[in-house]
Amino acid sequence: MGVEMGELRGTHVPVLLERCLELLAPALSRPGRTVHVDATLGLGGHAEAVLAAHPETVLVGLDRDPEALAHARARLDRFADRVHLVHAVYDELPAVLDRLDLPGVDGVLFDLGVSSLQLDEPDRGFAYAQDAPLDMRMDQTAGITAEEVVNGYQHGELARILRVYGEERFAGRVASAILRERERSRITSSARLAELVREAIPAPARRSGGHPAKRTFQALRIEVNRELAALESALPAALDALTVGGRLVVLSYHSLEDRITKQAFAGRARSTGPVDLPVELPGTGPTLRLLSRGAELPGAAEVAANPRAASVRLRAAERIDPDAVGGQIRRGRRERPRHGGEATQGEG
Ligand SMILES: C[S@@+](CC[C@H](N)C(=O)[O-])C[C@H]1O[C@@H](n2cnc3c(N)ncnc32)[C@H](O)[C@@H]1O
Repeated sequence: MGVEMGELRGTHVPVLLERCLELLAPALSRPGRTVHVDATLGLGGHAEAVLAAHPETVLVGLDRDPEALAHARARLDRFADRVHLVHAVYDELPAVLDRLDLPGVDGVLFDLGVSSLQLDEPDRGFAYAQDAPLDMRMDQTAGITAEEVVNGYQHGELARILRVYGEERFAGRVASAILRERERSRITSSARLAELVREAIPAPARRSGGHPAKRTFQALRIEVNRELAALESALPAALDALTVGGRLVVLSYHSLEDRITKQAFAGRARSTGPVDLPVELPGTGPTLRLLSRGAELPGAAEVAANPRAASVRLRAAERIDPDAVGGQIRRGRRERPRHGGEATQGEG
């Protein structure tokens, strides 16, 4: 590990921390023991604040990155008697809860993407600004590396990933440059890849939108870690694990993550009963109440204090009993979302 344990503490500011705490509080402060899952523990910033605010709450913290888990373990040491830290991909949540004999949970947080630990450690290969082997695996004990993707995928597949996951306008040109280069020699370093991408992007386009390799690196990271597929199966599983009154908060940093979240919520926030009935039939009412209207965006002060927050979108929901609204008139049933802090709202 390139960084001393504990050195990163305090350098990572948890994104939208106050808003997350506010949204989770009604579920976690219910009487008796409550259970909170931090599905993306990272350096444990959100988790530490949750444990400090809720002395009766047991934390289940998941991360696929063993280094992140080691940092979080040190940081959360004073809460060790009510903390379970597990090396797992978050779509393994049902099995983790089974093993811990926890049938239901009261709070869940997903703070998606990479941690500052992963970005800042040069040898992980996530950062285009540093030269490192092209790895990009959040869990370096499993899966394919970015080097394998870059040197092994066909042109069409590479271009698709760059376009869809990276929203790279010049995806075809970048993929062609990669294929040309790898015919000469295998691409093994992040600096070489960043340079190739820069050269492939027309000069006028290089002047806007940050470093020209940023979008390509993001796309490769999402592909290497199968991030979207894991989220697609993890969200329904996490919603299933919530007790009635339990709450789930998702912080997304990519439009596709936010879309997956929006869809996972939408299906449960509406009735499954016949549309032409004026009242809800037993068991057909919504099982989820949306707590955010659309996606909440960070306020200017949050972004100024924490540049990582610039692209965040927050969505939150509460599990409800579908029969608690039985017989209720269906129209206009959605409650007004609670909304606090300085966050603003994004598209639906
Ligand atoms: C943005 S960081 C979380 C930061 C954390 N909230 C904090 O306050 O320190 C995201 C973390 O999620 C982990 N992660 C990403 N995808 C994951 C997945 N599918 N399963 C488990 N962990 C994942 C990453 O390894 C990373 O440590």
